[in-house]
Amino acid sequence: MPKTKADFPVDKVRRYLEPGPIVLVSSAWRGEKNIMTMGWHTVMEFTPSLVGCVIAGSNHSFDLIRRSKECVINLPTTALTDTVVGIGNCSGADTDKFEKFGLTALPAQKVKAPLIAQCHANFECRLEDARLVERYNFFIFEVVKAHVARRPVHPQTLHYTGDGVFMVSGKILSRRNRFKPEML
Ligand SMILES: Cc1cc2nc3c(=O)[nH]c(=O)nc-3n(C[C@H](O)[C@H](O)[C@H](O)COP(=O)(O)O)c2cc1C
Repeated sequence: MPKTKADFPVDKVRRYLEPGPIVLVSSAWRGEKNIMTMGWHTVMEFTPSLVGCVIAGSNHSFDLIRRSKECVINLPTTALTDTVVGIGNCSGADTDKFEKFGLTALPAQKVKAPLIAQCHANFECRLEDARLVERYNFFIFEVVKAHVARRPVHPQTLHYTGDGVFMVSGKILSRRNRFKPEML
């Protein structure tokens, strides 16, 4: 290896490989609703619109989502930074997070889990495949309805690098004219 590169702890590679925006996942089951903060998600397919994500079994959200087979993935911006951290550091098992963080729950169209009004976008999801839940806590959802604020077109999203540190999405670069049409 060139001397310009140093060994790096494998358990810290998340700092470089966790580029997706932090999201707030809302859920509901039998009259109870909850929210968790999530960084471990990935787009898996466009049509149908599949998103995979890891929800630790110790999270209260795990039970609500596994039972209801639904959730909403909400996209917060930097305006909600402290809320994102607060929601990720307490549990719906003993806290009403909508009340504690002053968030507004709106009815969704296709699922029972609520939308979070203060977020830039809300993606209503139904559980598509639970085969990897037992082994990896990995849920595969289909996005069945999406709501997105008209402005700003490029919201300032939060991207977690571990250790309590976030990156903020920034400069927009377009190379559209260099893409094959089928790759767009
Ligand atoms: C920035 C950040 C990212 C997180 N990402 C995840 C994640 O991808 N998956 C997960 O299971 N927990 C994740 N967590 C932890 C949960 O949000 C946390 O355990 C939360 O308190 C669970 O709430 P609940 O018990 O009400 O479901 C994250 C927390 C923070 C602060």
